[in-house]
Amino acid sequence: MAKPTSQFVCQNCGATFAKWNGKCMQCGAWDSLVESVSQTEMVGNKVGKIPSAVKVESLSSIKSNQTPRIPTGNSEIDTVLGGGIVPGSLILLAGDPGIGKSTLVLQLAADVSKNDKKVLYVSGEESASQIKLRAERIKGLSETFDFLSSTDLDQVLAQTFTKAYDLIIVDSIQTMASANIASAAGTVSQITNGANALMQSAKSTNTAFILIGHVTKEGNLAGPRLLEHLVDTVLHLEGEKFGAVKFLRSIKNRFGSTNEVGVFEMSDTGLLPLINPSGVLLEERSDSPGSAIFATMEGTRPILVEVQALVSPSVYGYPKRTAVGVDLNRLGLLCAVMTKRGGINLSSSDVYVNIVGGLKISEPALDLAIILAIASANKNISINSSYVVFGEVGLSGEIRSVNSSDRRLKEATKLGYKKAIVPSGLNGSGLFCPKTIRQAIEFITKK
Ligand code: TYD
Ligand code: MG
Repeated sequence: MAKPTSQFVCQNCGATFAKWNGKCMQCGAWDSLVESVSQTEMVGNKVGKIPSAVKVESLSSIKSNQTPRIPTGNSEIDTVLGGGIVPGSLILLAGDPGIGKSTLVLQLAADVSKNDKKVLYVSGEESASQIKLRAERIKGLSETFDFLSSTDLDQVLAQTFTKAYDLIIVDSIQTMASANIASAAGTVSQITNGANALMQSAKSTNTAFILIGHVTKEGNLAGPRLLEHLVDTVLHLEGEKFGAVKFLRSIKNRFGSTNEVGVFEMSDTGLLPLINPSGVLLEERSDSPGSAIFATMEGTRPILVEVQALVSPSVYGYPKRTAVGVDLNRLGLLCAVMTKRGGINLSSSDVYVNIVGGLKISEPALDLAIILAIASANKNISINSSYVVFGEVGLSGEIRSVNSSDRRLKEATKLGYKKAIVPSGLNGSGLFCPKTIRQAIEFITKK
């Protein structure tokens, strides 16, 4: 065996170097190199040794794994996963600190174990008594699952073989460390190695794993990108930190669609599935200028949200754009289109746009709602409160059609919005279908 060598691994991008440096030459991050000891062995064939043949099968002769999915007992999580947890799969659950990841998995552990499934909850972050306190907060939580407070990955791996668990939850992958790796917990080599070891044990014992992952300030998953490639499913729990509504989104799913979203409400007694998200999101809606109701599609589910805008004169020469829940570049573009094509000059105004409830929306159907909210704020005229708005806007100020218009309109009608400002081509009573943003703006601002 070769003697252990030391190398320096960038904690930001995973690049390795022979020498320490203040700056990573690969990604430019400062002070990100951490020493790790690796034991390199000669890989490949040694001269004269023929590798033993492996058995190659034809795909048609392989039987598909018919083990049924494990139902989670939680309609929202089941929808997001595509109908339950696939045995032997690795699920990564990421989210900001304090968003409710531990609460969600605790409830999940309880729900899954109700159906005669063996569940182990490993926490490297909280002690048994802390988890117990949390469990007591959540009403009706059945505590029929096992708990282990440990940061030792090897201990966790040993558990997979001792008792045939159906599901093991690891909170969080960043706190787990294996004694076989010289670097500290949370470093690239620990995380990669840990996830790999768990993956192998998942596939060989058919135990499903849920790993909790931390995210960085920018909202990316902390640690190597490799983690996301390795696992079968990546879920993000998001929402405003202090807002009650949380969204569970799947970013990657080998066993289902990535279009679905689960909606929860954080209550005194844990995370509750939210049956009518539009109702909660619109609860405190105001009829003041600068507010527009937008019908968005979250996967296959329509949700109504309030888009708010504020326009104020720029103090400095340079107009400021601030966006919460909306892409800032898109907002800049829409402001430019309004100035050029909509007859509303924003070149010396600061513009703020916010999606109420912490939802992040990236679909282009939001364009028209943003524009009308800004126009309404700018002219200080409220949009009639019975209107819902959606439509994509092009650079020449034209309004383009969007997908799932029928479903958006149906949700709006359900919640009492009888009228809509929508792209042309749709027909129905109460619909106003402007061709350009100028027509739409004139429509909402006429007295
Ligand atoms: P937590 O699940 O620990 O978040 P994470 O593991 O993602 O860091 O807790 C999220 C927040 O939710 C915490 O501030 C306390 C709050 N909370 C409730 O409001 N109700 C509850 O029933 C529980 C258990 C937590
Ligand atoms: Mg936690």
